[in-house]
Amino acid sequence: MANLQDLKAYLEEKKNKIDETLKKILPLSKGYGGRVIEAAHYSLFNGGKRLRPILCLMGYELSGKNSDEILIFAAGLECIHTYSLIHDDLPCMDDDDFRRGKPSCHKAFDEATAILAGDGLQALAYECFTHKELLKKVNPVNLLKAINLISKASGFKGMVGGQMEDLLAEGKKGSARRLKWIHEHKTMALIEASLVSGAILADLNKSEIKTLSKFGQNLGLLFQITDDLLDILGDENLLGKPLRSDLKKKKLTYPALFGVEKARSLAEDLAKTSLETLTTFGERAALLKELITFILNRVN
Ligand code: IPE
Ligand code: IPE
Ligand code: MG
Ligand code: MG
Ligand code: MG
Repeated sequence: MANLQDLKAYLEEKKNKIDETLKKILPLSKGYGGRVIEAAHYSLFNGGKRLRPILCLMGYELSGKNSDEILIFAAGLECIHTYSLIHDDLPCMDDDDFRRGKPSCHKAFDEATAILAGDGLQALAYECFTHKELLKKVNPVNLLKAINLISKASGFKGMVGGQMEDLLAEGKKGSARRLKWIHEHKTMALIEASLVSGAILADLNKSEIKTLSKFGQNLGLLFQITDDLLDILGDENLLGKPLRSDLKKKKLTYPALFGVEKARSLAEDLAKTSLETLTTFGERAALLKELITFILNRVN
């Protein structure tokens, strides 16, 4: 059994490892072209939970292997995620001036720099995924499969598609079906792929991967519903981003469509289902089980 304290210590330890890895892979911001690297550095450090890379490590650890072996791969997921946040905050998207407790990238720099910093981080992600050190530790076929999975989850059929629909749904009368589709694509897909990519790299069997995929879906949807709720109920200082941004933009969110109470109860249902999904993993999934409650009750 793991408790909340165990999980918090675990998250802290892994966050530090991911941060160290990111610091090593990001080039120095010296000389020509340095400004965009400086902007990427600015957005990447301080305040991020590193949830996606940590999920990847957790997926890998289910095999009993040491996840230090794939830190560089996991760091790539944070590059994709941070790129998505930089672009998400732009005036042409959510137009948010704060992120991770600091002015958003386009505020601290400018829009062109923010766009380029996002682009560069996406490319850096693939430098991480294809790092030659990985070939010493993981099967190359599994590596290809994992990269393919993440590419799909973050692209047109995943996060990018979801972001598109999120923008198109602003100010419109939404349906539960459209809302679920948006959340499944803009957020759930990358969260699921983060966990499953770790499991693929560790060579878990097909049925285990299928179970983890289901779990990742529930957790991913739960994560975005709690994000929607925090937009209304959160503490701005803890959250590090502006409150009521979704309300201002008339976003299609769970509380907007169903009300706060119903959204909260849907989140609780998802937490329960997620927990049930993990039963087959037994004690191996102790930390993942604890993570569900942590996400349900998160404040940032
Ligand atoms: C924010 O993600 C964007 C969503 C998908 C809701 P996180 O809440 O994981 O943000 P950071 O990385 O901790 O800043
Ligand atoms: C963003 O969703 C999902 C991404 C893919 C970046 P939100 O727009 O709700 O994320 P926040 O609230 O700005 O972090
Ligand atoms: Mg958005
Ligand atoms: Mg946003
Ligand atoms: Mg949000």
